Amino acid sequence: MDQIRIIGGSPLSGTVTIQGSKNAALPMMAASLLQEGVCVLKGCPRIADVFCMEEILKTLGAVTYWEDNNLYLDCSHIRNFAVTTEYTKRMRSSIMLLGAVTGRMEKGCIGYPGGCVIGKRPIDMHLEVLKRLGAEILEEGGVLCADTGKKGFRGAEIVFEKSSVGATEQGILAGVCALGDTWLYHCAKEPEIYWLGEFLNQMGASVSGAGTDVIHIQGRKKLKGISFRIPPDRIVAGTYICAGAATRGKVILKNPPLQELEAFLKVYQKMGGQYKVNSGKLTTDSSRVGLPVPYLETDVFPGFPTDLQSQVLAVLTTAEGMSHIRETIFEDRFKAARELRKMGADIEVQGQDAWVRGRPYLTGTQVRAEELRGGAALVLAGLGAVGETIISGCSYITRGYEHICEDLAGLGGKIEGNTRKIYEGNI
Ligand code: EPZ
Repeated sequence: MDQIRIIGGSPLSGTVTIQGSKNAALPMMAASLLQEGVCVLKGCPRIADVFCMEEILKTLGAVTYWEDNNLYLDCSHIRNFAVTTEYTKRMRSSIMLLGAVTGRMEKGCIGYPGGCVIGKRPIDMHLEVLKRLGAEILEEGGVLCADTGKKGFRGAEIVFEKSSVGATEQGILAGVCALGDTWLYHCAKEPEIYWLGEFLNQMGASVSGAGTDVIHIQGRKKLKGISFRIPPDRIVAGTYICAGAATRGKVILKNPPLQELEAFLKVYQKMGGQYKVNSGKLTTDSSRVGLPVPYLETDVFPGFPTDLQSQVLAVLTTAEGMSHIRETIFEDRFKAARELRKMGADIEVQGQDAWVRGRPYLTGTQVRAEELRGGAALVLAGLGAVGETIISGCSYITRGYEHICEDLAGLGGKIEGNTRKIYEGNI
């Protein structure tokens, strides 16, 4: 059974703790391969994508184990350099392993990552970075290989043609293994890149400027295993604030990554949301939410994050008047609109634009999640709707949300689902 059941209409209220960041944890798991000891990721989210990455590291020779939310990664005996399509088709972000595996083993092979419903998700910039750092890229038996031979990666100056989180992380991970200096220009500036730089520097690397558009790496430092606390997940934080907004409730975040939420909170205020910060907690009051947003455009950090676009779309379905959202990062990220229409939403999508005419309320029905953030948007819509909503396809949601049902039920939401069993069954 892969379903979440919701009875909508209860304004959420109470305090919630935000899980560790999925998009910070995944590159740190790749970085752990670069040392021959044990890394401990503290406060690591127990989610499907992390479990998948853990399985991949084990196929490479790592020994892994959990103590509550602390993930131990013993990378002293990495003996394999190939990640099969079995894993890469399940998790696109496995591509970020290519540079790290090649940096450790002189060669790395990764099954082609599938595209996904939010867009083509090409990897041309990943491969270009590795080539510029001295790897030969070849295809062997349907898998992509990078090979540096005995000489390994060599430092280089690289200018990214566009902002890419994954390609920037790829360049950092390979640059750390490269002989000499690497300079990366026009880098993505998402917080997860800053955190990857912090993680690697604590391991003994020399990475400066991570989180800005120019990154300088002095490669081939001796790296050691460390213990590192994963920062809270900014997208989960925004998702839960949107849950409060969809139900006109009052949600308090115990450990919000405030500096990473500025663009989102500006949009929350435009919708009528009010918030205040005291002693590190973020108190949100959505009793006045219901204003439309005349124009919202997703952008790279520090702009409004594409990963919160679907959640805001769900809230705007019951805002008075017309709202307009433009998605500029991915080609096809309005998938949730079709399912929201089944609940009575008035959304028109044309290419990268969605126009939302607010309705007094949505009505619960059967809907299907097709991807991670669109699935979360359906949960928010169900919480705010009249009647019962049944969401199928929840294994997408558990890829990124550790206990979305328990968290929202803890805030008074009438929601249940055995999502924990769902992803443990899938791994
Ligand atoms: C990361 O994906 C995140 N995933 C995504 O979060 C997030 O939506 C995205 O960054 C943008 O912020 C992880 O960190 C694991 P990109 P990534 O490379 O690295 C194009 C979630 O919901 N591009 O910044 O794959 C690409 O098609 C996920 O948690 C190329 O053209 O995103 C896109 O249009 C979804 N060639 C744009 O760049 C390449 O080689 C930005 O993608 C790589 C990317």
